[in-house]
Amino acid sequence: MINDFSPARKIKEISSAYWQSQVFFTALRLNLFEVLARKDGSAVELAREVQADPDALERLLDSLTALGLIGKSGGNYLLPPEMRPFLTVQGGRDMSASIAHMEHLAANWSRLETSVRRGEPVSYDEEIPEAELRVRTEKFMAAIEGYAAVVAEDLVRLFPLKGNEKILDLGCGPGTYFRKYLNHYPGVHAAAADVDDVMAIVERHLQTEQLTGRATLHRGDFREISFPDNQYDVVLLSNVMHIYPHEEVLPIFRQARQALRPGGSFLVNDFFTEEDGTRPLWGTLFSLNMLVNTVAGRNYRLQEGRALLKEAGFTRIRSQPLPLDSTLLVGEKPA
Ligand SMILES: C[S@@+](CC[C@H](N)C(=O)[O-])C[C@H]1O[C@@H](n2cnc3c(N)ncnc32)[C@H](O)[C@@H]1O
Repeated sequence: MINDFSPARKIKEISSAYWQSQVFFTALRLNLFEVLARKDGSAVELAREVQADPDALERLLDSLTALGLIGKSGGNYLLPPEMRPFLTVQGGRDMSASIAHMEHLAANWSRLETSVRRGEPVSYDEEIPEAELRVRTEKFMAAIEGYAAVVAEDLVRLFPLKGNEKILDLGCGPGTYFRKYLNHYPGVHAAAADVDDVMAIVERHLQTEQLTGRATLHRGDFREISFPDNQYDVVLLSNVMHIYPHEEVLPIFRQARQALRPGGSFLVNDFFTEEDGTRPLWGTLFSLNMLVNTVAGRNYRLQEGRALLKEAGFTRIRSQPLPLDSTLLVGEKPA
């Protein structure tokens, strides 16, 4: 009989998985991807450029190569064309803020045991000065933009509009999704809501993309805002549901229904898990991420999302996978 070592391999790989993250975070901190985007180089040349020890850097570069993040040819390291858009600013789909955000979350993840014992985050009550909060918001929104830009491309493809609709984006974050629709359809108008500091970021994006006149911005808790009834063709709630406990989701779904015109669509994008909640892995981990970082956030199963939509009065409920483990849940307001 051949020995099956796959359980041992699984144990080794999962218990050391954070080594891989640390290699990635360190490469980003050393600005290696930007340096490699300009020019291929040997470990010695790159060490000079990023001010590192050549032997130590070679080990890091070899690990990055083994991870498939960079390439190596004839002793020179290079940034493969398929990674370039995602790992460099000039690439246009830069995810470096999203990677840095993952590193930022590591501190709370290191206290997972306490959170699991207590059922709550460890350090939620710490007083954060306002200036520091604004810096954190900027970083968080840049991280969201990195992920959302990838998902938004597919959303626009999978949920096309006629081109003259009014959309409402609740908890819009940097506005990646509604901006994508505005850029794609010159006749679409958007309303969007988020807190003050976030809306300042949205305004900046709208100015850069020359979309300012086509969006109405609402500042503050969207649950307190009276949007006009029966007005919007599409209401979007993306990665907001997982912030709220079950009993607070239903009023938000009802608010969306009220704002929609009869026949309009409610799009809920989130990291829903399937059936018994054990798939996909990202969705299961994301629920723990909400445990260590928020008071009441949690991930939902697709069935829970469907049931809440039904309870809020939506019909023709359907789901559609999106990239990066997101799922789009769609319900219609009866005509
Ligand atoms: C995880 S982000 C998602 C952003 C964006 N919808 C996306 O999917 O890329 C959640 C956003 O919802 C906003 N948000 C959550 N609850 C809110 C509320 N009650 N009123 C206004 N904004 C809210 C947060 O400020 C944050 O910008």
